[in-house]
Amino acid sequence: MLNRRNFLTAAVGVAAATGLAACAKKEEGGKGGSGGGDGKIVLGFSQVGSESGWRSANTTSVKDAAKEAGFDLKFSDAQQKQENQISAIRSYITQGVDVIAFSPVVVTGWDAVLKEAKAKKIPVVLTDRSVETSDDSLYVTLVGSDFTDEGRRAGKMLEKVLETAGHKGPVKIAQLEGTTGAAPAIERAKGFKEVMDADHASDWKIVVSQTGDFTRAGGKQVMAAFLQSNPDINVLFAHNDDMGIGAIQAIEAAGKKPGKDILIVTIDGVKDGFIAMSEGKINGIVECNPLLGPQLMEVVKKVKAGEKVERWIKTKEGDFTQDQAKAALPSRKY
Ligand code: AHR
Repeated sequence: MLNRRNFLTAAVGVAAATGLAACAKKEEGGKGGSGGGDGKIVLGFSQVGSESGWRSANTTSVKDAAKEAGFDLKFSDAQQKQENQISAIRSYITQGVDVIAFSPVVVTGWDAVLKEAKAKKIPVVLTDRSVETSDDSLYVTLVGSDFTDEGRRAGKMLEKVLETAGHKGPVKIAQLEGTTGAAPAIERAKGFKEVMDADHASDWKIVVSQTGDFTRAGGKQVMAAFLQSNPDINVLFAHNDDMGIGAIQAIEAAGKKPGKDILIVTIDGVKDGFIAMSEGKINGIVECNPLLGPQLMEVVKKVKAGEKVERWIKTKEGDFTQDQAKAALPSRKY
């Protein structure tokens, strides 16, 4: 099984394999793309869905960057269903696109369709989220964030938030997880737990943890249930802003003050998250940058040209506390 840690060590061989794939495709005499011989790179992109503000910003970034790069982009929205992504990828294989890119809804279950792409010598680029596969050569590279590190940063952010709030006593944490089986849900939980286990084994406890599927509605519904079963929760760690914003509604409906009675740390850094933070309702945000389009198009060009690329192209990100929110808000791009 391949996880994000292994990615870096596996870089060179796969990049070389991509080069071979691209050359082999040329040698077969096919243009590969279905763009109709106009010289445009044909990119088939399967998006997870439109579950969050982050996702909308990511979709816009991909579409704008593809247009800017002069690609023929074939785009499909999987509505958070793996079977829809598999069908979309199969259709891109049948169409003979030059490169397939996708942001996998969950980490497992991709080997069969990725082998089909490999058999047709169509290189695959992962964007945003990783997969676990038995064969490293089934995709070329991942363009996206280090989610485990985001989880760690969320843990460190909570330390700061507790200190700023002057919190004393036990820390009873509710965790709103992302989509079950998705890389950001697994890895953010893992990174956060690392910080907890290393430095807060005696004073922090995750008292409830459940998926809110990265949606606002999910966050609201699950948080309402958390508050019923565990009315003494004093911290919320939400795997994304949207679930955090939904949870704020549930907290207010329960007659509590988000950001005061319940301290809140989220991940993403979308505009609505910053607005909630500038209103004092979120205490800290760990950024996850959705503007991956330009980097993705650069990588696709290289892959199509048979050039080497790194196995994992990471995104640069920052962390934000309440005192920085108002100043940062006007410059947020998404
Ligand atoms: O994969 C990135 C995650 O997916 C974002 O944090 C979340 O908002 C989105 O739905």
